[in-house]
Amino acid sequence: MDRWRNRWAVITGASSGIGKACAELLGAGGAKLVLSARRVDRLQQLAQQIRSGCGTAVEILPLDLSSPGAAAQLYAFTRDRGMDVDLLVNNAGFGAYGDFHQGSLDRFREMIQVNVAAVVELTHHFLRDMVGRRRGDIMIVASTAAFQPVPYISCYAATKGFDLLFAEALAEEVRRYGVRILALCPGPTDTEFMNVAGQPKRLFRFSENADKVARIGLEALEAGKTYVISGWLNYLETHAQRLAPRPFVARSAAALLAPPDVPNRQGDG
Ligand SMILES: NC(=O)c1ccc[n+]([C@@H]2O[C@H](COP(=O)([O-])OP(=O)(O)OC[C@H]3O[C@@H](n4cnc5c(N)ncnc54)[C@H](OP(=O)(O)O)[C@@H]3O)[C@@H](O)[C@H]2O)c1
Repeated sequence: MDRWRNRWAVITGASSGIGKACAELLGAGGAKLVLSARRVDRLQQLAQQIRSGCGTAVEILPLDLSSPGAAAQLYAFTRDRGMDVDLLVNNAGFGAYGDFHQGSLDRFREMIQVNVAAVVELTHHFLRDMVGRRRGDIMIVASTAAFQPVPYISCYAATKGFDLLFAEALAEEVRRYGVRILALCPGPTDTEFMNVAGQPKRLFRFSENADKVARIGLEALEAGKTYVISGWLNYLETHAQRLAPRPFVARSAAALLAPPDVPNRQGDG
């Protein structure tokens, strides 16, 4: 993580899971950090832990990224303090499991705001400065769910599809300015995500841990890759299904994810 030593890094969703793991890794590598999420107590605790353990500067900004204007507030926080942000980790996000038509529309709007709109806004703000300085890195946390339709997390998977395509396209646009962009695509990962999304435990049987996923993402970004799938099993599964007909892929995903009351679902096994 030497690339970001003494440089400012902004991490959204730093209060738990992959975002927290990114903060710890970057802090250990000597990066100066701005940590954001909604839970202020978690941010304060993590900031204190990293300051005392790594001796690096850590600022926190509690924000709800589903609120309009929150992304601009985060950018203004760094600009007003004269921070040149060299790394933006767009990590905050959440899913919602179940039949789309029975889910809360407000919750889906919130999801699109956090997983997509805030990512676009933050990237737009920070990228302009990075291009100007001819230096900077952005990691967007997508998912293996980004590569195909996924019934019962349909809206979530679509937001992650956006994140993946957005990151890969932008990476090519800004390569000539010395700016790097990476989509990190984790498979099931042991964080608070499963509980927040209300997804069944059986889908997280082969979870990776957040530290490993964060390290894979940051190392791939450092190496100049534009996307990375964490874990060889996730990699094989993701790429194998690209050879299959699209309706088959969607139907197989439906059988795997279907709630108990749906006929022909795969059992808990
Ligand atoms: N875990 C998995 O299996 C998995 C797989 C693929 C991709 N991902 C992606 O990985 C990223 C990190 O998730 P995770 O697995 O680490 O889950 P997590 O432990 O639930 O962490 C999610 C983070 O996002 C923040 N967040 C959620 N809603 C927010 C909002 N409205 N405003 C600001 N921050 C918000 C949460 O902080 P507060 O609650 O404090 O606001 C938390 O810090 C997400 O983008 C997720 O889609 C996860």
